[in-house]
Amino acid sequence: MSTVNVGIVGVGNCASSLVQGVEFYGAEGADPAGLPNPVCAGYSVADVRFTSAFDVDSCKTGRDLSEAIWAGPNNARRFADVPWLGVPVTEGFLGDGVGRTTADRIDARGSASAAEIAARLTDSGTQVLVNFLPVGSPRATERYAEAALLAGCAFVNCMPAEIARSPHWAERFRRAGLPLVGDDLRSQFGSTLVHHALLDALARNGVRLRSTYQLNNGGNMDFLAMQDPERLRSKQQTKAQGMAGGSGAEGSGAGALPAAAVHVGAEYIPFLEDRKVAFIRLEAAAFGGTPLEIELRMTVDDSPSAAGNVLDAVRYAKFALEQGISGVFDPVSALLMKAAPRPMTGDAALAELHALTGGPV
Ligand SMILES: NC(=O)c1ccc[n+]([C@@H]2O[C@H](COP(=O)([O-])OP(=O)(O)OC[C@H]3O[C@@H](n4cnc5c(N)ncnc54)[C@H](O)[C@@H]3O)[C@@H](O)[C@H]2O)c1
Repeated sequence: MSTVNVGIVGVGNCASSLVQGVEFYGAEGADPAGLPNPVCAGYSVADVRFTSAFDVDSCKTGRDLSEAIWAGPNNARRFADVPWLGVPVTEGFLGDGVGRTTADRIDARGSASAAEIAARLTDSGTQVLVNFLPVGSPRATERYAEAALLAGCAFVNCMPAEIARSPHWAERFRRAGLPLVGDDLRSQFGSTLVHHALLDALARNGVRLRSTYQLNNGGNMDFLAMQDPERLRSKQQTKAQGMAGGSGAEGSGAGALPAAAVHVGAEYIPFLEDRKVAFIRLEAAAFGGTPLEIELRMTVDDSPSAAGNVLDAVRYAKFALEQGISGVFDPVSALLMKAAPRPMTGDAALAELHALTGGPV
């Protein structure tokens, strides 16, 4: 079985957890507890290799990926030691990558062209490019997507920029014969999943949702970036899409509600570091119109909860490359992303995937 050669755009907290996760679970005899799928589309975690990485923070560029994941404002928990990887972090294209709320934390520079980024992808043998850019950076994201097209890489868009949902980009990847997965990663067990499960339970049992909110608090750079209302908006849209439905139950999801009855917020609280504390509230009408209220608080490490699903996404993307599946890989996007262009239930997505891969692994 060949390897899954992964390039990373944005060596922040999610990249740190992903790189640590490959060390943690790729080790001989590793305990798979906490891992969604030890084998996915025929690939084990040990088959995943990092071959290239791009950033714009001068304290990360030029360093080995194994060092850069601990640099700058990164504050993801250390759960694995990462040996020297021999993967230098290359200066990329800044564009709109760094916003006004994070600018004083990052010494940012980078004007690489799509051709220069593509050359690095090709030279390093990268097959799947993962986009971990901050919220609110669609222009920079497009530059890396362009580079992926030039270099013949699959593209996994883990943030809210419209790439998989854009007919323009979907068609370009389709015509190039390359897979595209997006948009905006769904965490392995995060507030979107829990919120959706509650919405689903209400709908399946005939309880009518009246209003709901999801307030997330965290102290990492993702939360700091979301303090810019412009940048937060794109996350609110994909979050709302993630809560909108898809369970298959009649009237399920917050999508059936007027916009004023659904609220998604994000607060930056530095001392929380990479922990996310989510408050979820649902108000609903039960039998006879009697009121039903649910309040829930969950605390989870933010970036590790992203890494498990990315590990699956890159392995499915490699599988798609090998099988000649091109354009948006719909079942993977529906399963692992908050805002897939063709949403479907988890069961339907898995059934499509198992039909393609020949089984549950
Ligand atoms: N659970 C999660 O953490 C989770 C879940 C779903 C989606 N996401 C999304 O994933 C993305 C990454 O999250 P994170 O926590 O790693 O963010 P982060 O801020 O820790 O990392 C972003 C990295 O990108 C770099 N960067 C900024 N502009 C760049 C550019 N133009 N080119 C190259 N690098 C650039 C920054 O220097 C930083 O290293 C965010 O958009 C976030 O919303 C995260």
